[in-house]
Amino acid sequence: MPSEHGAVEIVVCLGSSCFARGNSEILAVLQQYVQGKGLKTPVCLSGCLCQDQCKQGPNLKVGDEFHHNITAAGLRELLQQLDGQNRDAHGQA
Ligand code: FES
Repeated sequence: MPSEHGAVEIVVCLGSSCFARGNSEILAVLQQYVQGKGLKTPVCLSGCLCQDQCKQGPNLKVGDEFHHNITAAGLRELLQQLDGQNRDAHGQA
């Protein structure tokens, strides 16, 4: 999932539908997690305009993978998995 530069790209849809469906909270969770707890791998956090998948929102993309109907709890789980994968990849416990 990390890019060629080693950073994991996380793109949050900031379109009005996704934002109203919960991406405002998702964005806050992401910022808190990245700044507070911190991932072992650098994260490149960005936003995008509507991806024409509003009915499945809130949407975000981690690397090349789209995640739909994302919740704060689901995002935390996803970040923990991501952190675990990267720790394994770097030989850390
Ligand atoms: S607003 Fe996010 S897909 Fe449309």
